[in-house]
Amino acid sequence: MRHQNELPVRSTAGDHPMKRHHTARYYAHRVKENLTTRVSKLICAIFLTLLFLVGVITFVLWLSLRPHRPRFFVRELSIPGLGQENGFANAKIIFNVTARNSNQNFGFYYDAIQMTVNYQDQSIGGETLALPFYQEPKNTTILAGVLGGDSLRVTAGQWRQFMADRSRGAVAFSIELSSTIRFKISTWESKHHRIRATCPVAVGADESLLTTDRDKRCQVYFI
Ligand SMILES: *[C@@H]1O[C@H](CO)[C@@H](O)[C@H](O)[C@H]1NC(C)=O
Ligand SMILES: *[C@@H]1O[C@H](CO)[C@@H](O)[C@H](O)[C@H]1NC(C)=O
Repeated sequence: MRHQNELPVRSTAGDHPMKRHHTARYYAHRVKENLTTRVSKLICAIFLTLLFLVGVITFVLWLSLRPHRPRFFVRELSIPGLGQENGFANAKIIFNVTARNSNQNFGFYYDAIQMTVNYQDQSIGGETLALPFYQEPKNTTILAGVLGGDSLRVTAGQWRQFMADRSRGAVAFSIELSSTIRFKISTWESKHHRIRATCPVAVGADESLLTTDRDKRCQVYFI
């Protein structure tokens, strides 16, 4: 198009051949520039793809290798004599909680586990459950026992409230577990992590766990 427009000027303009030469060089330059842009775009694309792949692989590795937190389940919580006015005198709480290490490769070093039973946000008893111990991968530890005497502090007023709650259906408690754990994989050990598990469960009229709360999984937090 440009050639045709310039055609009438050709006879008079002496600088025309130079101009044509300049245009050719300009196009050559453009082609070269295009090539450079395309090469750098390609390098950029390869680089970004590699970066993306490395990211995905790292994410998948992290997902499959990171340790899972311990899992706690409430298997039983029962209060014999819950329906009796004078049951308060020798009250006891029978409990069974299991701690599971679901990891394939990580072991847990537990410091002692402190267990507390709360009623209406107040501790009514508890005890230290396990000495420091090591839990192998894919292993379950049973934390069971009986709270009574010194390890249970239910007041007469609280017992009356238990009975009132029971007559309305169930008495709601919260079992709290706290400990410090370290993760172990081959010879490497992590630093100490404080963990807390909260298990809201209720005891029904039959003096034991409501069937809906049986084998309930506790919420576990790192603190
Ligand atoms: C605690 O519960 C687990 C799992 O249900 C069971 O295998 C174990 O025998 C129970 N232990 C006690 C002392 O009740
Ligand atoms: C869990 O660990 C204990 C103690 O190390 C061991 O006696 C028990 O057999 C293990 N249980 C399983 C299911 O591997």
